Amino acid sequence: MRWIRAAGRGLLVLAVVLAGYGGSGARADGGSQGRGPLTLATGGDLTGYLGSLLQGWNRAHPSERVTLVELPDSPDETRAQMITDLRDGDHGRFDVLNIDVAWTSEFAAADWIRPLPRDRFPLGSFLPPVVDTATYDGQLYAVPYVTNAGLLLYRKDILAAEGVPAPRTWAELERDAKTIAPRHGLDGYAGQFLPYEGLTVNAAEAVYSAGGTILGDEGDRVTVGSAAREGIGFLARGVREGWVPKEALTYTEEESRRAFQDGRLLFLRNWPYAYVSASAAGSAVAGKVGAVPLPGPDGPGTSVLGGSNLAVTTHAAHPETAARLIAYLTGEGVQRQVLLKGALPPVRADLYEDPDLVRKFPYLPTLRASVLTAAPRPKSPRYDQVSLVVQAVVHDAMTGHTTPAAAVRRLARELAEIARRG
Ligand code: GLC
Repeated sequence: MRWIRAAGRGLLVLAVVLAGYGGSGARADGGSQGRGPLTLATGGDLTGYLGSLLQGWNRAHPSERVTLVELPDSPDETRAQMITDLRDGDHGRFDVLNIDVAWTSEFAAADWIRPLPRDRFPLGSFLPPVVDTATYDGQLYAVPYVTNAGLLLYRKDILAAEGVPAPRTWAELERDAKTIAPRHGLDGYAGQFLPYEGLTVNAAEAVYSAGGTILGDEGDRVTVGSAAREGIGFLARGVREGWVPKEALTYTEEESRRAFQDGRLLFLRNWPYAYVSASAAGSAVAGKVGAVPLPGPDGPGTSVLGGSNLAVTTHAAHPETAARLIAYLTGEGVQRQVLLKGALPPVRADLYEDPDLVRKFPYLPTLRASVLTAAPRPKSPRYDQVSLVVQAVVHDAMTGHTTPAAAVRRLARELAEIARRG
């Protein structure tokens, strides 16, 4: 099966190359050499910066205007809506997709997005791990646009009053969440624990930070074991013992950010945008927020590598404009705005060392280190199924419907089944 799919992809690559990148769109492009208006679909723009950023492009390119379609906040719903559009083939509306880094392999394996010529994009100036999230089967299928790594946000004021440093290990976090938080009328710790992609991320981080893995060999080999039991056990114990509040079982990024920003939590695992928002004027905890790497067993742990890549749909009518737009969005000027206006981590390495930006965003050096050591999600064409299983099983363990040991056994069984069907 595997080799048949690979051969199919090879033919597609060849066809695109023979047709010339500029004019191979399946929809008619009116002889404009692949240039013309486009629709860019993205997940929820939580910081609301993208529309105004695209106005700059639209002013400069009146005949190649970009229409922005904003899909729901939840990554799972965004993915579903993108796939519905992609399945419409020639009738699909979307030309450029801002896809989660976790979906590149699935979209490429399904031939929904086209291979891109490496030399048109500034890949050499990006942080190295992000480029890998955009490749599949040795081909570039998307261009990194935003990266992400989880950070542990904490209440600086409260830890300072107690004379304790920010936790470096899960044991320290657990101890402080149990003892310090209640003394200040706070809940201890939360992450994104609703069953959706965010829970997969949090569960994977707990497993990785306990020294384990979930899948090896691009999704073909199941590797869950005692570290998975420990990681899932940590999350389940938190809920059982009350230092993870029950409401957190319904949190995505935004609900968890609000809980922290309203001053209800001592510790929060979230992406850096939540640090920016919680530190901004008007936040109940402005000036009281610290950020450190996620804890691990004996020192800093491992984040899952987040972020999004820009891809061109197979049926895009104007692939040349799409490539130019992507080069523009990943250029230095826009990448700076992605951070300044969008509070999102840029993919360009030099920005992490820019003194002005580091002054404005003091977490940048911590974030850079976290991105460089972050673990990518498995490059499985069946990643969606893998993620659904992880979410369901870990949520059951966190609600107490199953024990961590039974959860890991079920995880191993179901993941092996997905790998077998490969
Ligand atoms: C963020 C990350 C993305 C991840 C998602 C999970 O948007 O950038 O990679 O899948 O959160 O909720």
